[in-house]
Amino acid sequence: MHAIIAFYSRTGTSQALAAAMSRELEVLGHSSEALPFEPKRRLGLVLGTLQALFRRPAALAEDYALGEADLVVLVGPVWAGNIAPPMRGFIARLPELQGRRVVTMLVGTWRYTRLARNVAEQLRILGADWVASRALRSAEVKNPDKLSSVVNEVARRAVQ
Ligand SMILES: Cc1cc2nc3c(=O)[nH]c(=O)nc-3n(C[C@H](O)[C@H](O)[C@H](O)COP(=O)(O)O)c2cc1C
Repeated sequence: MHAIIAFYSRTGTSQALAAAMSRELEVLGHSSEALPFEPKRRLGLVLGTLQALFRRPAALAEDYALGEADLVVLVGPVWAGNIAPPMRGFIARLPELQGRRVVTMLVGTWRYTRLARNVAEQLRILGADWVASRALRSAEVKNPDKLSSVVNEVARRAVQ
């Protein structure tokens, strides 16, 4: 399987999770490429929080494409109890996902399981063959044992 690991990360936690997923997929014998996406303009904390709160997607720096990947791993942070605006912007521009498997992973100071499920539901509507979601606390991403057990479990399910 070939995976694309699309992520937005302002302070590096989602990036670390994306990198751990990439390593784990490789260990399991699958290839992956990272797709870091960025807002067109760097979001200040106040504007970013307001955009997140009002569920406004951020305009992105580029037209990002998923290529031929049959697995899409989408990783990003929680802002103001919602997905961060760049992630919302990325999802808003996703093509139909038929023929692809999708995993969405959200990182917050707290764990946002229901939010992650809602994002997965949106992606399911785009026609993905299989969708899973996972919410993590940033402290879990920074704990090497916890990180490795989560990515192992998620990656195994994703490539089944
Ligand atoms: C503008 C902003 C708003 C945030 N709002 C929340 C929140 O509502 N709930 C939460 O648990 N964490 C919140 N956080 C914390 C981030 O989700 C957390 O630090 C995450 O690990 C950051 O990921 P990153 O390092 O990939 O950017 C917020 C962070 C920022 C910058």
